[in-house]
Amino acid sequence: MFVRRIAVIGTGYVGLTTGACLASLGHSVTCADIDVERIKRLARGDVTVHEPDLPELVAENLLAGRLSFVVGGLDAVNANGGAEVVFLCVPTPMGPGGAADLAAVEAVIAEVRGALAAGCVVVTKSTVPVGTATRVAALLGRDDVDVVSNPEFLREGSAVADFLHPDRIVVGSRSQNAAERVAALYARLGAPTVLTDATSAELVKYAANCYLAMKLSYVNAIAELCERLGADVIDVTEGMGHDRRIGQSFLAPGPGWGGSCLPKDTHALLQVANTAGFDFGLLRATIDTNVRQHQRIVAKVTDVVGQPLAGARIGLLGLTFKAGTDDLRDSPALAVAALLREQGAELTGYDPAVPAPVAGYTDALNVVDDPYQAAKDSSALVVLTEWPQFRSLDWARLAEVVYRRCVVDTRNLLDHDVLRRVGFEVRGVGR
Ligand code: UGA
Repeated sequence: MFVRRIAVIGTGYVGLTTGACLASLGHSVTCADIDVERIKRLARGDVTVHEPDLPELVAENLLAGRLSFVVGGLDAVNANGGAEVVFLCVPTPMGPGGAADLAAVEAVIAEVRGALAAGCVVVTKSTVPVGTATRVAALLGRDDVDVVSNPEFLREGSAVADFLHPDRIVVGSRSQNAAERVAALYARLGAPTVLTDATSAELVKYAANCYLAMKLSYVNAIAELCERLGADVIDVTEGMGHDRRIGQSFLAPGPGWGGSCLPKDTHALLQVANTAGFDFGLLRATIDTNVRQHQRIVAKVTDVVGQPLAGARIGLLGLTFKAGTDDLRDSPALAVAALLREQGAELTGYDPAVPAPVAGYTDALNVVDDPYQAAKDSSALVVLTEWPQFRSLDWARLAEVVYRRCVVDTRNLLDHDVLRRVGFEVRGVGR
């Protein structure tokens, strides 16, 4: 069943991916944002979000007339005679105390509530606190409009693939009919669908992201144990991952987990638990272990340099929170950089997706456009993001430009034998 009129409010990577993918499933979608320049660019097919396949998908659906862009939620809701389904994909950043900040959601509701057509369904797609669907319904104050929670499980860097090949669709609402209408939008994807109440749907999102964070903190803790016991975390996690109950994914240790979702969602669920009177010690330990992981990387750098870091030049390879994105939000690379800086290190960083200079970090970190320049005269090179191209750098050339041949490979990305052959001392994580 195709829905002729869908409004998607918010054009971050979630909103844009949702809009373009729903259009490619045959629905007719109007996307809105308040940033006029951004909307003008998107209407020309100029997609600045760093997301594989998204520019092509937007262009294709613009051309087919299934996707359009307007300024403001009101215009999106009113487009083509009134939206049947409205997706809220606005940002919900971490507010004071760790709870998600719903100001953008509330502003959109205030803007569109009077304009919604009778029978319309409002869908919360942004990650919102448990209980938000009830709050949105109260803010709407409309008996003739249903609210549905339909969390997204899109990873940055593979959002289009995740949308079109989902592991599951989760839809929750007080109204069975509204939930079924939203689930039907995805029918062509043939994914397992969980129909539930709105509170459970909202909790699925947090429970899943926090579980992933917990898995990563567990692996980082096992990596530390491997170092103490003389075991190799690569073999340990491979041995664990063959157990189908555990699985191979999310088992790679690193400098800590980051990004715009996992840090925000772990703090938000902790806040939800506190409010509900539940002491979620396991989740607190997950967060604490992550902070400790940043500190552990700094200790490794100090150890390999063999002296205090004050005045030492350190080259950073990779700044984004993971490979395949240009996103620096809550990047563990920047958390490690801040700690190194606190120790007095002079930092030069290179990232293939981050053109120099980087606003806001220039005092603490000199960002350059060339990895060999980042390495120049460094006492240690620290690999912080798992960009595959770092493997094929000319390590013999790097050996010539550094001051000391030391590498801390926080992603266990490089071939350590190759590096050792050209004279580098190398430290990985968990081995
Ligand atoms: C995460 C979830 O994976 C998505 O399912 C979810 O939809 C999304 O948040 C969201 O809430 O919107 P994302 O933030 O794009 O997606 O990043 P991930 O791929 O989950 O990576 C998070 C962090 O874990 C990164 O810093 C990454 O480097 C780290 N990581 C991941 C590891 O250190 N090791 C691994 O094996 C995997």
